Amino acid sequence: MASEVSYPLQLSSVSESHASLYEESLKHPEQFWGDLASRRLRWTKKFDQVMDCDMRTGQFKWFLGGVINVSVNCLDRHVEENADKPAFIWEKDEPGTHEVISYGQLLESTCRIANVLKREGVKKGDRVAIYMPASPLLAATMLACARIGAIHSVVFAGFSAESLMNRINDASASVVVTADEAVRGGKTIPLKSIVDEAVGGCQCVQRVLVSRRTGAHVPMTPRDLQLEQAMSEVSDSCAPEPLDSEDPLFMLYTSGSTGKPKGILHTQAGYLLYASITQQYVFDYRPGDVYACVADIGWITGHSYVVYGPLCNGATTVLFETHPTYPDPGRYWEMVQRLKVTHFYTAPTAIRMLIRKGDEWVKKYDRSSLRILGCVGEPLNKEAWKWYNTVVGEERCTIVDTYWQTETGGITIAPRPAADDSQPKPGFPSLPFFGILPQLRSENDEVITESNVQGHLCITKPWPGMARTIYGNHQNFMDVYYNPHPGVYFTGDGALRDENGLYRITGRVDDIIMSKGHRIGTAELECAMNTEPRVAETAVVGYPHEIYGEGIYAFVILKDGVVASVETIAEDLKTIVRKKIASFALPNQFLIVPGLPKTRSGKIMRRILRKIAADRHEELGDVSTLADPSVVEKIVQEHNLLK
Ligand code: PRX
Repeated sequence: MASEVSYPLQLSSVSESHASLYEESLKHPEQFWGDLASRRLRWTKKFDQVMDCDMRTGQFKWFLGGVINVSVNCLDRHVEENADKPAFIWEKDEPGTHEVISYGQLLESTCRIANVLKREGVKKGDRVAIYMPASPLLAATMLACARIGAIHSVVFAGFSAESLMNRINDASASVVVTADEAVRGGKTIPLKSIVDEAVGGCQCVQRVLVSRRTGAHVPMTPRDLQLEQAMSEVSDSCAPEPLDSEDPLFMLYTSGSTGKPKGILHTQAGYLLYASITQQYVFDYRPGDVYACVADIGWITGHSYVVYGPLCNGATTVLFETHPTYPDPGRYWEMVQRLKVTHFYTAPTAIRMLIRKGDEWVKKYDRSSLRILGCVGEPLNKEAWKWYNTVVGEERCTIVDTYWQTETGGITIAPRPAADDSQPKPGFPSLPFFGILPQLRSENDEVITESNVQGHLCITKPWPGMARTIYGNHQNFMDVYYNPHPGVYFTGDGALRDENGLYRITGRVDDIIMSKGHRIGTAELECAMNTEPRVAETAVVGYPHEIYGEGIYAFVILKDGVVASVETIAEDLKTIVRKKIASFALPNQFLIVPGLPKTRSGKIMRRILRKIAADRHEELGDVSTLADPSVVEKIVQEHNLLK
């Protein structure tokens, strides 16, 4: 192996004009990304070729021939400079409490967990499922996997046992890492017993590592090991595994248009570079800043902007364990005051919820440390944008509405405050990031060149952070992302571009609902609800919701002869959704209907259901091609009765 080659982090050119850097990134991608990868990452062996990508076949390779270890980039090189530098500030559920974890401490726990995993037989390429509350140990477990080349699959700790089981089985994970309990908003969640239930249906799992969060007594079986105890038995150093740039780093399950969630796979060097450069450039992160992305690590936002991006940049990043209204709606701002947070990054749904609680909760606290206010997950409507800007930011901060997805690995469209002094346009994530060349296409695959016309948002050039495949199902990967508009990446979102080239996202154009910042597949929800014995069929659609962005509306057909009130059916369906998916996927509205609008070939016309749910009955359009056009009128009547 070649000797370690180290490059300093480049921090100087963050304020260089966006237009010039962007142009450079598109004109000379190999030079642009190659140069950044050389300067920003520490390589064990430098790459020989920057990229080898083919959007027609979905084969993507970045930094070919490079040997790297992500945990070294996120930890060791910062420890060499200053082991005491705070890596995480863990904002715990208990009001007013936080713990500071230095880079040195994080490296030590990472190495110990890595050694425990190795002792348990985990090798490079093996999958490790993680079902834990937001904590430094969760991040250390991810980094421990990265250290030894295992692939982590973090499952958000709000998912049910059945969802967890499906994800563990799909990945064939041999080890699950969890905690005794989670605490959120003062309430405990019995994580270990959920894992017990899930693992009961998983032949692949050999070991469950249980960390301590609350210290509650949880029954242990011979399969289980207490994590902190095991960590104390092994060495605090662990040699990093030399990994190929394209070895998998992690998979993260996300909902799609089909019933089964898909394990989106990201690899080492390209993902890390993209997460780190976006964290620094989009947020104008500067040394000494306190960066608080309050997303859960169980989602991609937490992976890229709580863990990998900030740590790669040697930043101090906040780990938010609690709830924005616990113990009261001032929690975020009390934390901002106490921790002197400079960057705050949340979801529009949280902003809208807090607007309702009143400005006094914000104004009570000193927010003078704040510089950048970010958001992600759904369109940030103008009213929420304005409140975020004036009430939270006192018109002093920059609002950074970032558009991206699990599949993109990092932010793809966002303003760049450091490079542009003007306040971004409300409702517009605005400008594509380096290397991202968006294109709008019509349903018939024509390229839309006009301004202010909505189309399918596609990306026509590869970028380092792009997903490489769906774990175990490359064909599905192609069918979902590359075949709908051949030769380009299809996001699944609609968007428009204004006359100045700024982008606005108009929402999903497929069967995915974005509710409360969560991504919910309609097919997955329907499959779950269709298991209720009295139910013949269901169809769910999103509808505009003041706080959640989209609410979930479930149309339900009962089996012949079944008589039941909508209330009892709704309760039973909610129980099923809680058990099979998660509480965050519960529909907000239920309607029992005599039939569904279907084409003659049996396809549900969701467009019609969406209009009904949104009370836009006058826009139903031509229904004469339906197998039974009269059903639409009946559904409208039932819907009107519900109001
Ligand atoms: O519909 C878009 C919406 O969130 C989807 C991606 O969801 P997920 O993979 O769970 O990742 C969320 C966090 C990165 C997108 O397809 N979305 C994300 N950001 C925005 C957005 N919609 C509008 N504006 C945004 N800024």
